Amino acid sequence: MMSQEQNDLITRIGPNAPCGKLMRAYWQPVALVDELEGERPIKPVRLLGEDFVLFKDEQGRYGLMDRDCPHRGADLAFGRLEGGGLRCAFHGWLFDVEGKCLETPAEPANSVLCQNIKQRAFPVVAKGGMLWTYLGAGEPPAFPEIDCFVAPDSHVFAFKGLFECNWLQALEVGIDPAHASFLHRFFEDEDTSQAYGKQFRGASAGSDLPMTKVLREYDRPIINVEHTEYGLRLIALRQIDDERTHVRVTNQLFPHGFVIPMSTEMTITQWHVPVDDNNCYWYAIFTSYTKPVDKVKMRDQRLELYELPDYKSRRNKTNDYGFDPHEQATATYTGMGADINVHDQWAVESMGPIQDRTREHLGQSDKAIIQYRRLLRQEIAKAEAGGKPLLSLDEASARAIQGPATMDGIGPTRGWETYWMEVDVKRRRGAPWAAPVPAEIAAKVPHLTAAE
Ligand code: FES
Ligand SMILES: [Fe+2]
Repeated sequence: MMSQEQNDLITRIGPNAPCGKLMRAYWQPVALVDELEGERPIKPVRLLGEDFVLFKDEQGRYGLMDRDCPHRGADLAFGRLEGGGLRCAFHGWLFDVEGKCLETPAEPANSVLCQNIKQRAFPVVAKGGMLWTYLGAGEPPAFPEIDCFVAPDSHVFAFKGLFECNWLQALEVGIDPAHASFLHRFFEDEDTSQAYGKQFRGASAGSDLPMTKVLREYDRPIINVEHTEYGLRLIALRQIDDERTHVRVTNQLFPHGFVIPMSTEMTITQWHVPVDDNNCYWYAIFTSYTKPVDKVKMRDQRLELYELPDYKSRRNKTNDYGFDPHEQATATYTGMGADINVHDQWAVESMGPIQDRTREHLGQSDKAIIQYRRLLRQEIAKAEAGGKPLLSLDEASARAIQGPATMDGIGPTRGWETYWMEVDVKRRRGAPWAAPVPAEIAAKVPHLTAAE
């Protein structure tokens, strides 16, 4: 159990909070590229407890700046895109993507007022189908060379969804390998050939055992947690018999992401981006190591649940997430349908806006969560002291962060330690794009990587 002060320290992300300072040392997803397509590419956004306006000017340059006009505070999200920037609808002041004031048209013709006006503005870049911004001081860090940023556009697909709760509890569900055996339990297995684009519904690599069966029948995973240069690696083992063990390798990507396998062909890289202390968006990039991603299908599947423009779930606390007691008795553990995103959403939102960790009781299955919180506190302290926290990278070190490896498969009970690396390396070698084998793994399976 922790004190209220400790809980506040690791959850609150406003501009003056220590964890808010940590978060501002990283690029943050601020929208999907899709959200600024369309006729009027202007969008109000709330990020890390602050309000901004995101826009694309007539030349296609992205800008992000404070939402309140520096003249008398009107809302720039209702502005006009013209004259090389965004113009406030109140008195026509005009700002470019860098926040420079270009015109103050109601002032006398010889006025120099606008030379002294600068709206706070932040850099925006497009990467992996998402728009990213940097709200921190000084030079922004470099992006790590992880798969979702290396893969070509044809092999990635980005989407997002709102969770009405603090970012940390949303992240923590992703570093909790045990919950999948309960929260996502299906009493019957469906045809694994229908699994495209869905998690936990295919067959594990190296077998025809459906993941639903493995999760249901082997519910006490052994969880190994290792510290890595990007965060944590989790290896969850479910021993099937003396010969076979189910191995699932997932990663915590510091500070607020995870990288997990979705199927034998795709991986999910997902960030839990604070809107404010009580809300977050999950932003995910799905990366394929085989065929190009069927973006239309992936998008249509997700639009069944998420409603635009805010990417809010149609199943939410106002309708009990579609809870059906009959279904709970006969078909699923939750009674909330087959979409596992709904299960996770219920789990994290039902804890309340910010989980009261002064009342929790952690067990051994929460091992990765315990280690992550320790790491988070350590890096908050580092950022507070003016240092560079984990994964806030310069160009040279960013190139060394590759992968990370993910997998879900049935391997040998003796020898799983190299088995999962072999599966990951083979997948990379067979990919139609140059998916780098992380150096740390290449060194451990030299028989597969010797040619490189
Ligand atoms: S408040 Fe924006 S131009 Fe006056
Ligand atoms: Fe889950």
